[in-house]
Amino acid sequence: MHAQAWQAVQQEIEASRAIHLRDHFAADPQRAGRFTVRAANWTLDYSKNRITPALMQRLVGLAEAANLRAEIDAMFGGQPINATEKRAVLHTALRNLSDDPVLVNGKDIMPDVRAVRARMAAFCEEVRKGHWRGHTGKPIRHVVNIGIGGSDLGPAMACAALKPYGKHGLHVNFVSNVDATHLAETLHTVKAEQTLFVVVSKTFTTQETLTNALSARSWLLARLGGDRAAVARHFVAVSTNSAKVTEFGIAPDNMFEFWDWVGGRYSLPSAVGLSLMLAIGPRNFERMLKGYAAMDRHFRTAPFERNMPVILGLLGVLYHNGYGAATHAVLPYDQYLARLPAYLQQLDMESNGKSVGRDGLPVSGTTGPIIWGEPGTNGQHAFYQLIHQGTQLIPCDFIGFCRSQNPMGDHHDKLMANLIAQTEALAMGKSAAQCRAEGVPAELVPHKTFDGNRPSNTLLADLLDPQTFGALIALYEHKVFTQGIIWNIFSFDQWGVELGKVLAGRVLQELQSETPPELRHDSSTNALIRRYREARGAKL
Ligand code: F6P
Repeated sequence: MHAQAWQAVQQEIEASRAIHLRDHFAADPQRAGRFTVRAANWTLDYSKNRITPALMQRLVGLAEAANLRAEIDAMFGGQPINATEKRAVLHTALRNLSDDPVLVNGKDIMPDVRAVRARMAAFCEEVRKGHWRGHTGKPIRHVVNIGIGGSDLGPAMACAALKPYGKHGLHVNFVSNVDATHLAETLHTVKAEQTLFVVVSKTFTTQETLTNALSARSWLLARLGGDRAAVARHFVAVSTNSAKVTEFGIAPDNMFEFWDWVGGRYSLPSAVGLSLMLAIGPRNFERMLKGYAAMDRHFRTAPFERNMPVILGLLGVLYHNGYGAATHAVLPYDQYLARLPAYLQQLDMESNGKSVGRDGLPVSGTTGPIIWGEPGTNGQHAFYQLIHQGTQLIPCDFIGFCRSQNPMGDHHDKLMANLIAQTEALAMGKSAAQCRAEGVPAELVPHKTFDGNRPSNTLLADLLDPQTFGALIALYEHKVFTQGIIWNIFSFDQWGVELGKVLAGRVLQELQSETPPELRHDSSTNALIRRYREARGAKL
């Protein structure tokens, strides 16, 4: 982090540390309005944070000192900002619905982006209208998306989020885990003749995905008389690696391409969203892209003090580095967003879980909070106790909608009353004096007191529709980007996942070896391997 600018932030933190959120609100009747911004159908009320106008100014100064503006331009402009992989970072081009070109190494990538999207749309319409037939001539009724990480979480989360827009009678399933249970349980629910497998892998080398895809192919062929021609009607691929896709046995005609400048965890608006497009249709997919694009425009053009992703990023830095908050909770008050925290875990933690700076030196402070959460109101009856009265500071994002996709009695009023009340309780708390005034017995007063002063953001939109949804995801993408720039780390590589993959390959050989393997690990790893082999009746 920029040392001087951060020092200025710290001074303001110290100047306002003793002020309780109760006092901030009492002192400034305009506080909510002062700390509210609107963009792309979303309203962010960030007034329930431990901030003052002066502190926000210093935080904006931190973003400026980190050259955030120039870095944003570099990303949108196709510079190779993913330096360790020598790649541009252009997920924003995927939702560029304007006629503006986007250049990578002097070449406009937009014609390719549009061409793939058009192919996706044509394919999805064929399947959705029942014109694309399975090997035995029956229409497709089940889609099984096989992928993991960014090739699973995005479309799986989005299909759940946009379920009300899904096509009736077309069931989209997601298989990611190499645990055969995931595939087996899914295959129990589908009919081979009417199932389309969408194999999604940027690299097409991922162990889990290839294992699941091979098993799915065997399952299919066993049920369709072993005719290998069936694969062409039941398997399509989404990848950047056409050679590996062909090697697997999927014809180039059945492959939807994306490019190395799309990071896996940023790939939902690319062909990786094929299963989502199958579910919600090309028009709704495009509405989602419009939402993404609206937030992209806002991020690119709004001044930092009115810039929603920048504000969220700066507040995260404030708590993580200024107050030592190790975690950040995301609490969507919408059952359709149940998978959002899991999606954001990859987006944020795989991007910013780095301890080496862009200069190759260890970073000076900490980076990358642990992201977690569950839909409200469920979380209230499980872990909110710790957020309200625990010893750790846990900043929260509350996400809610003014209208429900399923209006029923007064459910929605109750849902939203809970969201609003939680933010109030966290901020204001309940003093010992209040408890005593209510007649709480003296010995219980410390237990029933709420310190309050616990920060939260509230994100509010009218309805969870494709456009609002797209804007929400772009908001978090750009928040993560902002933080990566401030921490001076590379947010678009993920070398930390490699070692485990390599070691798993070696251990797999040792688990499967016909002859007793010569084990050269630490004593714990050796013992675990021997125990497993023994239990499986292998030679020791
Ligand atoms: O192992 C991590 C990772 O590389 C993620 O970054 C990625 O989203 C996931 O694996 C899946 O990779 P692929 O799309 O290449 O199968």
